[in-house]
Order: sequence, then C-alpha cells, then structure tokens
Amino acid sequence: MKLITATTYEEMCQKAARVLAAQITLKPQSVLGLATGSTPIGIYQELVREYQEGKLNFSQVTTVNLDEYLGLSPENDQSYRYFMNQHLFNKVNIPKENTHVPSGQPQNPQEECRQYEELLAAVGPVDIQLLGIGNNGHIGFNEPCGHFPEFTHVVNLSESTIQANSRFFAHSSQVPRQAVSMGIGTIMKAKKILLVASGQGKAQIVYDMMFGPVTPQVPASLLRFHPDVTVFADQEAGVLALAALSK
Ligand code: F6R
Repeated sequence: MKLITATTYEEMCQKAARVLAAQITLKPQSVLGLATGSTPIGIYQELVREYQEGKLNFSQVTTVNLDEYLGLSPENDQSYRYFMNQHLFNKVNIPKENTHVPSGQPQNPQEECRQYEELLAAVGPVDIQLLGIGNNGHIGFNEPCGHFPEFTHVVNLSESTIQANSRFFAHSSQVPRQAVSMGIGTIMKAKKILLVASGQGKAQIVYDMMFGPVTPQVPASLLRFHPDVTVFADQEAGVLALAALSK
C-alpha cells in the first residue's frame, strides 16, 4: 500500500485525477470503478476540465459504481446515479449505456446483487477502482462486521454511516437504511485501487487501515493484501500515517 500526500484537497484531487486520466489515455476502453461521496468530487471536476480542454475522450470508457441506496429512484437528487450523472456522466462524452450503478429500486434486491456481479464479470476486470473511506473504515457500503463480504450484497447501514451521510439530507430520518454494495471481494478483483481521503476526521482511520490489524471491523484494512493500492491523502487526512512512515 503506497501513500501519496498532498498539501491541499485540490492538489490531492489533481494527483489522483492524473492517474485516471493516464489510464483512459493509454487504454481508451478502460473499465473504471467509481465512488460517490464528497471526497471524489474534486477528482471528477478535474476529469471534466481535462475533457473540456480536449485532453480526454470517454467515448469507449465503461464505468461501474460501488453502491446505491435502496429505495431511491435515479431522479432522486440523493441517489448515487443522480450524483454520478451530475458530477461526471452528463459532463463528458461517455455513452450512458456504458455507465453502471446498482438499481436503487429493484423488484428483488438479492437478484439485483446477483445480476450486478454478473455484469461486473462480463465487463471486468476493473482497471482502476476509485474508493473513498468512511469514518468507520467502510469502503463502498461494506460496514464493520464479523466478516469481509465477498460479493455484491444488501447492506443495513450502520448508525455512524447514517449520521455521517445525513449531511446530504434534510434530516437523518430521510437517509435510507439499506443499500446495495459491491463486496470487499468484488473490490479486491480490481487491477489497481486508488483510495482518497480528505480532512482531519479521516486521519485516524487512514492510520488504522494502513497500520492497524487487518480485521473486518476496519473493512478497508483488507486492502493491505491487494498488490496495487495507492492512498491519496491531503495533509490533514495523511498526518498520522505519514508520521508512522517517517519513524
Ligand atoms: C460512496 C462510498 C462510500 C464513501 C465513504 C466516504 O460510493 O462508497 O464508501 O466513499 O462514505 O465518503 P466521503 O467521501 O463523503 O467522506
């Protein structure tokens, strides 16, 4: 696991975006695994800017997103499909049919999970998977629990995630209680993983992920067993991990 720190959030996003841009340039048919949340927004802004400047072409790119809230339609402005359309897909030349986000309103959620795994197997492997990290160490919506979930599955969101995500909703009671998420096993199949973390609230969990025990209580800790993970952190999020590395 490699750590790249940046002085500011903007610089961190530029550095991470450069890796994604290089991937798309070198392999126009790349499969990108994408994340939502506040941290990747600056990365998507960078990619959109490069596209607008004529430096990037998304016409052959395929994307697969990590997760979606259960109960939200694609038109709901809190759904992850809506987020991705707003921040990236509507702003670049990616064909919509090449963009995949789990359905938030499946007839049968278990069947949706099975079909999403099938889709991933058909379009994959993912060349680069972009991840954020929750305050409790979740990646995707893989919450701390007794095991590392292997496949795409239905998740009951933890109270800490509901509270953390309530900042995007009018009230915490509106945060959906369930989601569909790729499993940790699904994420680990990506050829390369970029994890981004910003702000002092992430400093301890970045440290725990990199140096604490590998345990399903810190789902991101399993990434230490992946051969190609780069953690991008701004100064605040990287402070404890950087101090440990320079001892
Ligand atoms: C979102 C996702 C989540 C977020 C995590 C961090 O698709 O998979 O794991 O990456 O909750 O969110 P932010 O970036 O808002 O702190």
